[in-house]
Formats: sequence, C-alpha cells, structure tokens
Amino acid sequence: MSDYLWYEGIPFPTLGYDRETLENCDKFVIRDEDTVILTYPKSGTNWMIEMISLIQTKGNPKWIQSVPIWERSPWIETSYGYELLINKEGPRLISSHLPFHLFPKSFFSSKAKVIFVIRNPRDAFVSSYFFFHKTKLAKNPELFGAYFERFLKGNVVYGSWFEHTRDWLSMRERDNFLLVSYEEMKKDTRKTIEKICDFLGKKLETEELDLVLKHSSFQAMNENNMSNHSLIPEDVVTNGLKLLRKGITGDWKNHFTVAQAEAFDKVFREMMVGFPTGLFPWE
Ligand code: A3P
Repeated sequence: MSDYLWYEGIPFPTLGYDRETLENCDKFVIRDEDTVILTYPKSGTNWMIEMISLIQTKGNPKWIQSVPIWERSPWIETSYGYELLINKEGPRLISSHLPFHLFPKSFFSSKAKVIFVIRNPRDAFVSSYFFFHKTKLAKNPELFGAYFERFLKGNVVYGSWFEHTRDWLSMRERDNFLLVSYEEMKKDTRKTIEKICDFLGKKLETEELDLVLKHSSFQAMNENNMSNHSLIPEDVVTNGLKLLRKGITGDWKNHFTVAQAEAFDKVFREMMVGFPTGLFPWE
C-alpha cells in the first residue's frame, strides 16, 4: 500500500505524479485558445471530457473510440499529461483536479475557457471510496468510517473538497468560467450539452447533438475501451476497477449512517457559508 506524495500541504497520488511536475505547473503557460476541465476527483470529469470531445467532432465518435481519454484531455499535474501538453501545438483540452492555489498562474490573465464541474461531495466521496480501493495510485481507503473522517478533514487525494470548491467558485462571475453540476448533467443532459456548446461558441445541428448524447451516455462510455479505464496498466489498478460504477445521484444515502449524514451537513454548512442558496443543486 502506497501513501501520498505531499506537495504544498496537499496529498497527491504517488503513482504517475512527481514533485518536479507539480512545481512546473505553476509556470505552465495556458493559452487563450485552451479549454480547461476542472473538477474535484470523482465529480464527472471523464463524462465532461467525453462530451467536449464529441462536441469538438460534432458527434463523430471516431476520436473518442481511437484515442484514450487521458490523451484527449491530459491531466496537467500528472507526469505523463504534462509532457503531452507542453508538446502539443494549437488549442488544447486540459483536465485538472488541482486546487486553485497550485493551478498555473498564467490562467488568471488568459482568456482560456474553464468548465468547473461540481458534484454533491457526499456522492464524490462514495465514488472515491470505491475507486481508490481498486487502484494503487495512493493510500487505499480503510474502513468506510475512517475514510469518511479523513475526507471531512481534507486528508485525502487532492485535499479538501470544501476548500477546493470554495476557492474555485470565487471565479464564477468571470466570462471565461462555466459552472456545471453533475446533477444537472444527469437531470437534463441535452440541455447541459447545449449550455456547454454556447459557452464554447460551438453550434451543433440537432442530429449532431443527438450523436453527442448517444456516444457520451453511461452505457456507451462503459463499452468504450478508450474511455472506461480498462486500458489503465495493471501496475496502477487492481482487478475490477470500474470508472463507470453506478453513475447516479444520491448514492450516498445507501452508505451513510444517520450520524454521518448529520456530521457531513454540519461541516458543509460551516465550510460553505456565504454561498447563495441554489448554487448547489443537491442541497
Ligand atoms: P460513480 O462512482 O458514482 O458511479 P470522474 O470522471 O471525475 O472520475 O467521476 C467518475 C464518476 O462519474 C463515477 O461515479 C462514474 O460512474 C460517473 N460517470 C462517468 N461517466 C458517466 C456517464 N456517462 N453518465 C453518468 N455518470 C458517469
């Protein structure tokens, strides 16, 4: 069992990450024509990558069916992703889970578009519990209750959900920042794709939009080896890793005790104080 790579107070996975890359992220040059997908882990990152990949190809699945998802939209903070990105010319699709203070400073004066996907942290937590049990990326979650306590304190991969989300939401009034929730993606997927198209300045015909919907569905992604994480090497995952686990909202209710639900509510209220009601569709 591996532990974490600690950098600037944040626990990172040990596999696929290195200190030098994390340091270099600070000076990485984000270009005006780049599109960035920002999320806290397990919030629907890969689903968003799939949607945007398909929007870019007007629904043609050739790209998503021939290139692994982590090459289409590399994670800037990973050793592999960073190398791919610095060597890529033209507009890039970039993924990141980095907290605000570790993200490339060049972004803040660029016109690059950012799509920030949020998800009920209770569901992101449950998703991460099952996900990290099946990987060798970082310390495995112990028993549910102990991992729950660590999550509330932010002692998990990429740190505190609350700090991550609070800090990034401070950008939400900017024109180049789009806030999307996993919950709205689930509730009205077509409308969410239209919202993303508007933000990216892409006009799709109805049939093209139908194709984006079809090829980014839970089932289609689950069957697509380029997207379902089945190509992740065995030294990183253990048998049975499923990116596409349940794909639902509210799964936390199947796992939290009443006491855990109350403890979570309390921390949420304290940490997210000051944000307008309605910003978080799950509350
Ligand atoms: P669950 O573990 O709750 O099923 P990320 O991409 O940030 O790692 O997030 C993974 C979560 O997104 C998983 O949640 C996964 O099932 C869900 N997901 C991925 N693709 C999806 C899709 N097409 N439709 C619905 N949920 C999807």
